[in-house]
Amino acid sequence: MDGLEALQTEIPGPRSRALAAALGTVESPGVTFVSAEVPIFWESAQGSIVVDVDGNRYLDFTAAFGVAAAGHANPAVARAIGDQAARLAHGMGDVHPSELKVNLMRKLAAIAPVERAHSFLCSSGAESVEYALKTALLATGRPNVLAFVGAYHGLSYGTLEIGGITKFRKPWRDQLRGEAAYARFPDCREPESLDRSLSAVERALGRDERGIGAVVVEPIQGRAGVIVPPDGFLRELRRLCDRYEALLVADEIYTGFGRTGTLFACEREEVRPDVLCLGKALAGGFPISAAVANAQSAAAWAPSLGEALHTSTYLGNPMGCAAALANIAEIECLDLVRTAREREPLMRERLTEIARRNPHVVDVRGRGMLWALEFPDPDAAKSAVERALSLGLILLQSGLQGENVTLSPPLVIGDAQLHRAFDLLERAVAQRLPV
Ligand SMILES: Cc1ncc(COP(=O)(O)O)c(C=O)c1O
Repeated sequence: MDGLEALQTEIPGPRSRALAAALGTVESPGVTFVSAEVPIFWESAQGSIVVDVDGNRYLDFTAAFGVAAAGHANPAVARAIGDQAARLAHGMGDVHPSELKVNLMRKLAAIAPVERAHSFLCSSGAESVEYALKTALLATGRPNVLAFVGAYHGLSYGTLEIGGITKFRKPWRDQLRGEAAYARFPDCREPESLDRSLSAVERALGRDERGIGAVVVEPIQGRAGVIVPPDGFLRELRRLCDRYEALLVADEIYTGFGRTGTLFACEREEVRPDVLCLGKALAGGFPISAAVANAQSAAAWAPSLGEALHTSTYLGNPMGCAAALANIAEIECLDLVRTAREREPLMRERLTEIARRNPHVVDVRGRGMLWALEFPDPDAAKSAVERALSLGLILLQSGLQGENVTLSPPLVIGDAQLHRAFDLLERAVAQRLPV
């Protein structure tokens, strides 16, 4: 959908408020945050425009957690899902699969920077990371994993074992093994952090008695607030993993499919991980994810003798495969990777300008079309997000304490929409809400 934001009511509007009240009576507590300012209930979305149940139109600067890279309700993806739903909505993924499963895995093998790729399909990002963890144990015989402070790999128990954000792990500590080793994630704002982090990784790989079978890393930490490591980090991790015979698992669930200006972020350093975890923008909205392993790691799995040791009901779901194939074709044919790369200077320029005029923005960082503004405290970031929503711009708060605002618009966003979104962002940032 072309066009700009257009608000009809106060935000949230009366219908959103009524639904928020209703939600509170039926949803488990601890899920949707409800306040006077949020949420708005989405009714429809196309391209970079979201329409709520009160008829208000917003510009989306989140791509809905990075999913809608090729635009909300991308027509080719919507058609693929609809046609497939009418033909074969569901199959028996690991028993009697559909042809689409083969086609999608062929496509992943062709595009992923992974040696002779073999894929495992699943539904959420966390599941794809869990496949990587199991693969690492099978391939190396070593149960432990090295992860990074600030890392986010999902909230399932397997991924919580390697999560680097304490608040998500703390309540469940009694149910976790708690054996993972952690190193600090290096930050390109502090060049000396590279050596410190790599030394910590090397010490852990050399020291851990039970043995570290995998290093799991986001090429750019997303949920931690778009933390960009210094150049060479991934390359050095690859070297260390080779030296200590651990698998390198690249979690590109957020950074994958063009977001940072290359199809996969690890390609910037020409790094080939042993397992590449994919989700979010893989299918543009259908819940399908994938772990793409190199042939050597995947071979650690014994052939199935009739019952897969690791699978799920929706593995290789035909609608998901059709959506992913159509979505990847859109990313290719619209040249969205190039778009993300070519827009990086504009993103930097506009955001830097906003920071220059608003000294309470303490940092601007990112790559391609994944950026963050950092504020002195979480309240300032929250105010900016709420103020932006009231102006017709959807943003997402991020960071270990919530001190950042992440900007990850659909890659298809039009030039006029992009500039308008920056204008709204500037107004939202400039007008700090009273505390
Ligand atoms: C880098 C990364 N890994 C894993 C996940 C978990 O994906 P999901 O929420 O689909 O389980 C996310 C989600 O935000 C993510 O950003």
